Amino acid sequence: MKIDVEYLQFMWPMRHFLVTCGDINRKSNIIAVSFCMPVSKEPPLIACAVGKGAYSCALIEEAKEFVVNVPLRELEPKIYYCGYHSGHEVDKFKEPGLTPKPARKVKAPIIEECVAHMECKVIQKIETGDKNLFIGEVIEAYADEKIVKGKAKTAFAEGNFPWKVYSIRFKKEREERNGK
Ligand SMILES: Cc1cc2nc3c(=O)[nH]c(=O)nc-3n(C[C@H](O)[C@H](O)[C@H](O)COP(=O)(O)O)c2cc1C
Repeated sequence: MKIDVEYLQFMWPMRHFLVTCGDINRKSNIIAVSFCMPVSKEPPLIACAVGKGAYSCALIEEAKEFVVNVPLRELEPKIYYCGYHSGHEVDKFKEPGLTPKPARKVKAPIIEECVAHMECKVIQKIETGDKNLFIGEVIEAYADEKIVKGKAKTAFAEGNFPWKVYSIRFKKEREERNGK
């Protein structure tokens, strides 16, 4: 027997990234993003889905740039901080203790504590339900030499499915169908 499920549970585990946006000299922000993946090798394109109400969404729409920063697992508490708080209310560099550094080509900062950085220029925006899908062309990509040569594990989430973050869409229908 097959039963109805929260579909995202079966797309787990996911990679976690910290996407930076805005302008290092004015206002910049960090958002935890897991809906992020490569969508072309040539040209090199990354698709990143950002909630329409997120502070980051407005910043990316304005600057048409973002950076995908790759955190190590030890940054997990800070990733969750950035995923549970909004730049509308807090400074997500200052509060969790993450350091902004100038990027090579875009105005958004990179996060020093992350080990790899993909600087992207937005070439397309697609509205996808509650998110805007930003397609970014990777114009710079660089990483800590010791990470490239070593075996450090990046923030690949293998643990329990985070129901609080991901389970929303079909919850009501499922509960009604299951008579809860
Ligand atoms: C592990 C994790 C992954 C997340 N992935 C995404 C994502 O892919 N897209 C998204 O819009 N929000 C995602 N979120 C939620 C945002 O990070 C969250 O809404 C954040 O508060 C938005 O911040 P902002 O308003 O400063 O932009 C994720 C949260 C966590 C904890």
